[in-house]
Amino acid sequence: MTTPEEQVRFRPCLSKLPVYAAGKPAPDGYKVSSNESPFTPPAKVREAIIAHIDGLNRYPSPAVEPLRSALAERHGVEPHQIVVSTGSVAVLGDVVRALVDEGDEVVYAWRSFEAYPILVGCHGGESVQVPLTAELGHDLDAMAAAVTDRTRAVIVCNPNNPTGTVIGQAELEEFVAKIPAHVAVVIDEAYLEFIDAEAQIDAEAIFRRYANVLILRTFSKVHGIAGLRIGYAIAHPKMAAALRAVSVPFSANSLAQAGALACLDKEVHAELMVRAAHIRAERARVYAALEEQGWQLPPRSQGNFVYLPLGERTQEFAAFAAERGLITRAYASDGVRITIGEDEANSRFIEIAREWLTV
Ligand SMILES: Cc1ncc(COP(=O)(O)O)c(C=O)c1O
Repeated sequence: MTTPEEQVRFRPCLSKLPVYAAGKPAPDGYKVSSNESPFTPPAKVREAIIAHIDGLNRYPSPAVEPLRSALAERHGVEPHQIVVSTGSVAVLGDVVRALVDEGDEVVYAWRSFEAYPILVGCHGGESVQVPLTAELGHDLDAMAAAVTDRTRAVIVCNPNNPTGTVIGQAELEEFVAKIPAHVAVVIDEAYLEFIDAEAQIDAEAIFRRYANVLILRTFSKVHGIAGLRIGYAIAHPKMAAALRAVSVPFSANSLAQAGALACLDKEVHAELMVRAAHIRAERARVYAALEEQGWQLPPRSQGNFVYLPLGERTQEFAAFAAERGLITRAYASDGVRITIGEDEANSRFIEIAREWLTV
């Protein structure tokens, strides 16, 4: 078939968008490139999903009930303050659509989650990327100073993907206090459950005090249902209404809603927290081994991943690991992120790290 010449006029901002580099599959090895859970869904979650298959001829609950009420109870807010969509990325897309017009600015740290520049840019917004500190954490003073009349939102990723750094409670509160009340502060807590107890903070306490703060959560990481695509925002009423106004109707499908609800079951939640503890223990094992091997590393990551700031040797390391059956995520000439995955994958990573030091 000959393809007809396409003359459709696309928005100019599309040509400037970075391409999202999804983690590559690893047919003969381990995929540790997408910060996924190495565990399959808990039995009760599986059962809940299967139980909803027969209802797939119907649209999902438009009000996302009973999931929304269960989440509201858990977070001590009203159900209408919970906004659910196809992953927290989709909710963040709705935040941008609700707030950002052509030329408006969104401030966030860089390097951070790769979806941010795409979401901001595809709505015609301008990304204001504030470089990380020397310790690879958020430079909150510089981020607050980067806010202008055009700023509509600031995004804080805690822990930061890919560097794994975290922000302290006082630091975050001080930052939020500096942001004008008409600018939204989005706190992306995708990796919350992997933070060690002593580094945990209570972002919800800050949310309760500041009407411009909203929190993003996902079921894609410790809950292990990334394939179902479901995440949510905890937002103040006006923000929640705005997000609903711009969101795609019926975005969270019925199997995802059922699976997410099952994750909130007391027993399932306890099982998921055991898994999170296992990932934290594996992360500690990896760090201890790398330090013993002589690696000079940045502060320990608090996510389900480890970050190696390898600079110019980033791509070389990723290729070296891939040849040895480990598919990692390489970021230009900044560094490599390796997900804490199956125990054997983590052991393989330790061996590759050892071998790398000898080449
Ligand atoms: C910081 C951050 N936020 C959100 C997400 C994605 O969440 P979801 O799968 O709910 O869209 C990721 C996934 O990698 C992430 O790293």
